[in-house]
Amino acid sequence: MNNRIFLSPPHMGGNELTYIQEAFESNYIAPLGHNVDAFEAQIKAYTGAKYALAVTSGTAAIHLALRVLGIKDGDEVMASTFTFIGSVAPILYERCTPFFIDSDTASWNLDPNLLEEELSHRAATGKKQPKALIVTHLYGQCADIKRLAAICDHYGVHLIEDAAESLGATYAGKQSGTFGKMGIYSFNGNKIITTSGGGMLVSDDETLISHARHLSTQARDHAPHYEHTEYGYNYRMSNIIAGIGRGQMEVLDERIKRRREIFNLYYNALSEIEGISFMPEIENSLGNRWLTTLILPEHVSPEHVRLSLEEDNIESRPLWKPMHAQPLFQGAPSLLSGFSDTLFQRGICLPSGSSLRDEEVATIVSLLKSLIH
Ligand SMILES: Cc1ncc(COP(=O)(O)O)c(C=O)c1O
Repeated sequence: MNNRIFLSPPHMGGNELTYIQEAFESNYIAPLGHNVDAFEAQIKAYTGAKYALAVTSGTAAIHLALRVLGIKDGDEVMASTFTFIGSVAPILYERCTPFFIDSDTASWNLDPNLLEEELSHRAATGKKQPKALIVTHLYGQCADIKRLAAICDHYGVHLIEDAAESLGATYAGKQSGTFGKMGIYSFNGNKIITTSGGGMLVSDDETLISHARHLSTQARDHAPHYEHTEYGYNYRMSNIIAGIGRGQMEVLDERIKRRREIFNLYYNALSEIEGISFMPEIENSLGNRWLTTLILPEHVSPEHVRLSLEEDNIESRPLWKPMHAQPLFQGAPSLLSGFSDTLFQRGICLPSGSSLRDEEVATIVSLLKSLIH
């Protein structure tokens, strides 16, 4: 049996252990310390966000964003339906109502036309607007974020960017995650850089980040004893984990470069086949190509392809099942075009880790070709 080819395994840069060692030497085996400060500083420098808060996960970062924006108890939050559950579960944590919006064919991400249609209709009929919109930049590719931000601005809706998968992706030269009121990144084990688990909340608003920092450390007030005027969470990132993040940030640009190369290898080998289409890159944007994803021809079953690759010890994955189709969200209000359903039915994610070798891509390509014809 071949060595297993994973979808997106961790890929260390080399200096991670040095920073972990520093944490041991200073005895900051705690959810604070130099590594945490340095990792936050790297994210700010890289993304251009003015403020950053390192937390235990991307999901925690989204939860904090909702809390500090004052979104709670029956408020409505719009979100991409084509996303991962971590993007929208915090809406439920805050007892809010989700409203899902479908993807467009140009970006595979949230359709700005559908959003505008819904918000302008509400404005015209005096119906309440949502409090926030959570937009996901899926698989590392940018949503039409400038337009989405302008629509949110116009209708007074807070924009939260779920850039969990898209660290380093840019639109018009500006980093994904920095267009909205708040943005989040994830460093989960399979992301473009990883800390094993972790997340970052960013914003240009100092008050929001400092409130989120307070909530992430059990909302302890300033007093020698433990005093609390509101409740918070234990969401702060460990200084050990942040050491991994510091090392990973040093190689982020290399990782993006390699993921983009891998995408190009697949694209050049397969894009001519009738019925195949790869996730696009919208004009003016540069994705990080976290995962190479494509729609297969109609006569080819993605599940058959997945199982056949599995026989050769190669991991692939269906595209995300849209939120509106999840049993959890049965009956949730949504505005749908059907495109995310098509993506789920016909799409597949291919192995895309930055440590993947050209020969391995060639093996996957030839297996795919044999399965498609
Ligand atoms: C689109 C998206 N949103 C949110 C998350 C949640 O991040 P985390 O796993 O760090 O909580 C992830 C990844 O896991 C994701 O892919």
